[in-house]
Amino acid sequence: MCGIIGINSNKPVSSTIVNSLKKLEYRGYDSAGIATLSSGLINEVKSEGRVDNLEKNSLVQNMEGTIGIGHVRWATHGSPNSINAHPHSSQNVSVVHNGIIENSTLLKKFLVSKGHKFKSQTDTEVIVHLITENLKTDNIVNSIKKTLKSLHGSFALGIIFKDQPDLIVGARRGSPLAVGYGPNENYLGSDSYALKSMTNKITYLNDGEFCIIKKDHVEFFNEEGIKINKKVLELSSTEEKYNKGDYKHFMAKEIEEQPLTLKNGINEYVDKSNNDINIYNFPWKTNEISSVTLIGCGTAYHSCLMAKYWFEELTSLDVSVDIASEFRYRKNRFKKDSLYVFVSQSGETADTYAALDLCKQNNMKTCAVVNVIESSIARDSEFVLPIHCGTEIGVASTKAFLGQILILYIMSLKIGLWRKDINKEIFGKKLKDLKELPNLVEKTLLTDNKIQTISGTFNEAKGSMFLGRGFSYPIALEGALKLKELSYVHAEGYPAGEMKHGPLALIEEGMPVVVLAPRDNYYKKTISNMQEVIARGAKVLLITNKSKDEIVSENIWEKIEVESTNEDLLPFLLTIPLQKLAYYSALKKGYDIDKPRNLAKSVTVE
Ligand code: AGP
Repeated sequence: MCGIIGINSNKPVSSTIVNSLKKLEYRGYDSAGIATLSSGLINEVKSEGRVDNLEKNSLVQNMEGTIGIGHVRWATHGSPNSINAHPHSSQNVSVVHNGIIENSTLLKKFLVSKGHKFKSQTDTEVIVHLITENLKTDNIVNSIKKTLKSLHGSFALGIIFKDQPDLIVGARRGSPLAVGYGPNENYLGSDSYALKSMTNKITYLNDGEFCIIKKDHVEFFNEEGIKINKKVLELSSTEEKYNKGDYKHFMAKEIEEQPLTLKNGINEYVDKSNNDINIYNFPWKTNEISSVTLIGCGTAYHSCLMAKYWFEELTSLDVSVDIASEFRYRKNRFKKDSLYVFVSQSGETADTYAALDLCKQNNMKTCAVVNVIESSIARDSEFVLPIHCGTEIGVASTKAFLGQILILYIMSLKIGLWRKDINKEIFGKKLKDLKELPNLVEKTLLTDNKIQTISGTFNEAKGSMFLGRGFSYPIALEGALKLKELSYVHAEGYPAGEMKHGPLALIEEGMPVVVLAPRDNYYKKTISNMQEVIARGAKVLLITNKSKDEIVSENIWEKIEVESTNEDLLPFLLTIPLQKLAYYSALKKGYDIDKPRNLAKSVTVE
């Protein structure tokens, strides 16, 4: 993943680079570094861990130079220490890199044979030495062109040169890169978000392109080194101010914001006066579509899985769901009448983007369900349905998950109506219930103290299981993901009916098991599966919805009741206690809730 920034100005750049790096920390926070040019030399400062550590370093505070590059790292090659931190520099060249160089071992061998000495374990360092080597015989443009041709894999690069004190080179293949324009200064960044405090005038590089950034102008080149013209886009100039307010963590705030973010999403799509859903400019006739394939990673994949249940319930479309990293390399049967839906909070996830790209190459219909509307996935999809839940900072996705499933539910309802798979009466009834959802989420959020107490048991156990059937199964997967991601304990999500085919062997005395058994069509079956784990010693936390009917089961360890609504919408409510369970488990352990170890908010490597 990693985030990169470059600034070419006539003012000192180090503190602006550090501030931009803070905005890029969602891409990685293993280490941070900066390099500037001054007095004919490359100065380089790097620190392990967060950008804060870099900022505190007195060398950065006194760093000179009006041209520089910076980096935040999510380690791929080599452990996350300050030696492997970027920038990587030779005497002449300094490089920041986002991506993976797949042929770095071979290239290193060649470069070592030429006398180059390597300091780090990273794949990136080969780029530094290749450029240094090529510069012996070529000018800047040709040496960059030649270097890029030798690299296999993905990259976004920022490069400065000791002997070229007036320029930064940017290059892209696979990983996103944007150029920004300011008054007497120009910028390079992994995305427009990092550049937003400086400019809203942006050009995005396409795959294979590179650029030379000077203070007063920018030149763009294609992969053959031929000059090209690129459009300058004017993005909205309002920079969203987003802070924790009185909350201890962004995640806590983002959980509590969900009634509001759902309300915003509903207001964007539901036409209150006509009791209808507005999806304007949908580019295809619904009779041109006979199947839908939903693709995402992690939590976004769980949203896709959730949507499968709704699409199957409310439409007659064939529905399949795929993990993007699997889809992109499989032998897919692309069908003309299939709609491909890409779900992503960031809109920058490399695997999801690659799956989209593959569909585009095969002329498929592509639709993005994203939070960041300026993202690569949003820009490159034929049609976009934004989730409107605002910036999400916590690495563990909460409000974006509910935002994604909200939009996917709205989409399935509307397509069901368009195709006449559901009638107006059912549609109207479901829409009425949907409008009530934010209030029900708000009430469910009040169930708090019990979860704090329960979370201790999950921390102490060797592992835990999350079980559900039907609509609750994707939520069980999501609950388990949240717990492992935040409190680093093993948790596994499983379809409750599958336990007897193997995982039941894991159950032992005192093992915490979350059973999601709302009063829906699957209720009785799930309760039977719950009995089976209780009989083998599990401590069951039952999560169900409020009902007049008693639960006919003994020996349940703890029970949480969420509000009641129609069965389509219960998954939203079941999610809330699971988010809180993960939050409190991590809080008790004193872990870094907004930035769990080894992870990043936006996963821009495959
Ligand atoms: C969620 O808690 C995760 N951090 C992660 O699984 C995330 O959902 C996944 O990386 C996909 O990200 P995206 O939605 O930005 O594409």
